[in-house]
Amino acid sequence: MTPPAADAPGADPLAVFAQWRADADGVGDPDAVALATATPDGRPSVRLVLMRGITEFGIRFYTNYESHKGRELAANPHAAIAWFDPAHRRQVRVEGIASELPADESDAYFASRDRGHQLGAVASQQSAILTDRAELERAYDAAAASFEGRDVVRPDRWGGYLLTATDVELWIQREDRLHDRFAYRRSAFGWSVERLAP
Ligand SMILES: Cc1cc2nc3c(=O)[nH]c(=O)nc-3n(C[C@H](O)[C@H](O)[C@H](O)COP(=O)(O)O)c2cc1C
Repeated sequence: MTPPAADAPGADPLAVFAQWRADADGVGDPDAVALATATPDGRPSVRLVLMRGITEFGIRFYTNYESHKGRELAANPHAAIAWFDPAHRRQVRVEGIASELPADESDAYFASRDRGHQLGAVASQQSAILTDRAELERAYDAAAASFEGRDVVRPDRWGGYLLTATDVELWIQREDRLHDRFAYRRSAFGWSVERLAP
């Protein structure tokens, strides 16, 4: 492993990201990240999702596997996120490969959600065309009726992904636009890091 750039924030960028995320507590929506996916021929799309864990491997998030992003990830698992902490003026970029989490992990997370959110996940065919809002509300009412008196079962089409990080960039705002940028790349031997011009 290449020794880290002498003044990089740490040797493991995901550990630094986890610390930066903790530092951002209480400011806005600190779990929100822009998630970029793309078609196999390289047409990108991007939207916000909530991180539900930063691990030594990468970033976990939950969504609908049949949504626009879910279909793109099924055809092309390359994905990227960007995160910003406005209080500390820090940005993190993560690139890698997204894979579906094991069903038991998605079950456990689904079970921890509010019942209303669970029913919303059952009711919404995320990214499908709706005639009007009433159609969505009818689907919600139908889900509520079908699970009345019992636990809501996680739909197979809803669950988590792990974005396994291959590349991470840590960015820190500095004066005169002379920002610090540290680009990390993972290899079989661990993380290497290089300083990039801002
Ligand atoms: C702050 C914020 C957090 C969001 N978190 C999620 C999330 O964790 N999972 C999700 O599926 N959609 C989330 N959304 C909605 C997505 O941005 C998006 O509308 C939805 O996932 C459908 O995207 P798609 O059609 O590109 O698949 C969030 C939106 C915002 C503004």
